[in-house]
Amino acid sequence: MAGYMLEVEGVVKSFDGFKALNGVNLSVEKGEIVGLVGPNGCGKTTLVNVVSGIYRPDMGKICLDGKDITHMPTHKRVLHGINRTFQVPKPLSDMTVEENIDLAWHFGGKDNLARSSVLERTNLSETKYKVASMLTAAQQKRLDLARALATNPKVLFVDELGAGLSPSELSDIATMLKEIADTGVALVVVEHLLGFLESLTSRVVVLDAGKEIFEGRLKEAVKDERVIEVFLGG
Ligand SMILES: Nc1ncnc2c1ncn2[C@@H]1O[C@H](COP(=O)(O)OP(=O)(O)O)[C@@H](O)[C@H]1O
Ligand SMILES: [Mg+2]
Repeated sequence: MAGYMLEVEGVVKSFDGFKALNGVNLSVEKGEIVGLVGPNGCGKTTLVNVVSGIYRPDMGKICLDGKDITHMPTHKRVLHGINRTFQVPKPLSDMTVEENIDLAWHFGGKDNLARSSVLERTNLSETKYKVASMLTAAQQKRLDLARALATNPKVLFVDELGAGLSPSELSDIATMLKEIADTGVALVVVEHLLGFLESLTSRVVVLDAGKEIFEGRLKEAVKDERVIEVFLGG
């Protein structure tokens, strides 16, 4: 038990009787980057939503830094150090980059270092006064990351941040994520791009139909019979 920053145990979440999560376990250490992979619809985003408090689990337990947060509302979870990015970024489009970040900071732990370093850490300094709706897709994704970082998270879920980015944008994001983990943040990276994960993660958890079917190094995952079946067998 000791040592994990995030521990998810036996989480079940149903929608109208359909079990989107069927007893998921996931543990992440401080400073670790864990990849969360699996076919579309296997429950990755639902897990992010349950851990960040958007959905209540039907069963199971979620602990952050040793504290049971299973029944804690979302805004309190942010204060305790959990945050996430969205598969589709959700900035406030009429506000500037700086205003978006300040608003997130306000609802987070109000850590001044987090606020002052975030533009540089996400390479958005030059867009500080731009209205969010004017940003490129890649910049909007980085703004979503910046808003999460402004709350000074201990655990950060990144949901398909890489989708649609060019190779150089991807490598920039990978560098950013490594730097974030180096500051001690426990990172869970949801991603389909295996090359991206290979460069980032120490281990991956593979989900299928709401349950983890593999946990270990990505190199081993791609040789695992069940993983191959899920990805290729259909
Ligand atoms: N709010 C919801 N209401 C009903 N069904 C949902 C809801 N959210 C997710 N689901 C269903 O749960 C399953 C898992 O979805 P999701 O977690 O988004 O998958 P992934 O992110 O792995 O592609 C899908 O079958 C999806 O349709
Ligand atoms: Mg998803």
